[in-house]
Amino acid sequence: MTGQRTCLAIVLAAGEGTRMRSARPKVLHAIAGRSLLGHVLDAVREAGGTMTAVVVRPGAEAVAAEAKRILPDADIFVQAERRGTAHAVLAAKAAIARAPDDVLVIFGDTPLIRPQTLTRIREALADGAALVVLGFRAKDPTGYGRLVLEGGELVAIREEADASPAERAIGLCNGGLMAFAGPTALPILERIGNDNRKGEYYLTDAVAIARAMGCKAAVIETEEDDVRGINTNAQLAETGAVLQQRLRQAALDGGVTLVAPETVFLSSDTKFGRDVVVEPFVVFGPGVMVEDNAVIRSFSHLEGAHVGKAAMVGPYARLRPGARLQEQVHIGNFVEVKEAVIEAGAKANHLSYIGDATVGAGTNVGAGTITCNYDGVAKHRTEIGKNAFIGSNSALVAPVKIGDGAYVGSGSVIARQKRHACKMTRTTSMLGLILRSYVMAHFALVPRYTRHGRSCASRWWPFTCAES
Ligand code: UD1
Ligand code: MG
Repeated sequence: MTGQRTCLAIVLAAGEGTRMRSARPKVLHAIAGRSLLGHVLDAVREAGGTMTAVVVRPGAEAVAAEAKRILPDADIFVQAERRGTAHAVLAAKAAIARAPDDVLVIFGDTPLIRPQTLTRIREALADGAALVVLGFRAKDPTGYGRLVLEGGELVAIREEADASPAERAIGLCNGGLMAFAGPTALPILERIGNDNRKGEYYLTDAVAIARAMGCKAAVIETEEDDVRGINTNAQLAETGAVLQQRLRQAALDGGVTLVAPETVFLSSDTKFGRDVVVEPFVVFGPGVMVEDNAVIRSFSHLEGAHVGKAAMVGPYARLRPGARLQEQVHIGNFVEVKEAVIEAGAKANHLSYIGDATVGAGTNVGAGTITCNYDGVAKHRTEIGKNAFIGSNSALVAPVKIGDGAYVGSGSVIARQKRHACKMTRTTSMLGLILRSYVMAHFALVPRYTRHGRSCASRWWPFTCAES
């Protein structure tokens, strides 16, 4: 029903957030891996918002940048002085003047607003209301505007500071979100004055003005969680907890096994395939996709990572942005993977760092293997072929390639042939020399490695220097 109608969403984000005692603007604080503003803008987008105006305070470049990052078409308006919610809305007057069918006014610090709630409000506009208010029954109404009804019809909203004792006893409160039919939005908004205790231009006065103009004002009720506003760090945490409950429930409903749901922390964009198992105490940062039948074991931390089908991660694994695990990969305890493709069936089960790398299908990365990706100036890649064996405690000094089927002996340092690099290798591996001599003397092991398809052996040296 709302599909044909154009919709301007005005997001008020000019709040200072002083009670959070933070240098960061309030709407840039995050819950479930996304900024408060990001949650609101996502809800707007999902509810079919065709135009978005974000009202910021002067100098709030970071807020404007976050809005543009999420919705590149968003218009940014600056409210020069903080003179009330109606004053803030009128900062976006130029956008309202473009004559959208629906105008939604949303606070940037109410991140739990759901797209379906916005859709219900838009449907009430499509049904002929000139103005729609989102109401809720507050457990404690203190501080909220009260919805004054007469004969079941909304006639006014009274702010707490201006309310009579009888009005303060009203339990139905203003959630803050208000919507206008486009054609009457500016005529109503421009009539709002500031004759009240705080001397502010109250958006809430729009209701009485609309009624006086003979326009219909409607109330849509929602649950209190939907309109939770954030002013303090405690409210940020409480609201985050409510969102986690919603996300866990959605994951459970989608068929994910969360062994102890209350210990798993999800991001709003975490995606799961079918029959995924998540053990207790796992944290999903933003940008994670876990495919069918994968198991994420306890105490793992994943962010910006893709976990392929039937892969096994953890316990105690860390997947950082750019970790791409293909199917049946095993990443075990105390293994960190960053910006690396681990091809099907490869394993790194213990105590490794794999960064800026490709690990070929079926390769086994032994305990303690480190890709030395940073030379103090720049990052370099390590490429390991298929079905290779990297012996325990090896250091792969990037840029370096290990060929298909290669065998790297335990404790090897595979480095570029640069004199200073080799020298550093020697001086830092005296312990390796002793260990290597001991191991070779007792087990007659011959470490071998291949590079660019050539096979090499190093019987006597405690380290190996590859050619670049
Ligand atoms: C507002 C409502 C109140 C409602 C409550 C719900 C008004 C007058 N009152 O009160 O009825 O019950 O929300 O939480 O609307 N803002 C600006 N510029 C301004 C003033 C505010 O951008 O000049 C922004 C704030 O950053 C915030 C939002 O508007 O995101 C609401 O302002 P706030 O001061 O929190 O209003 P409340 O007193 O909570
Ligand atoms: Mg408020």
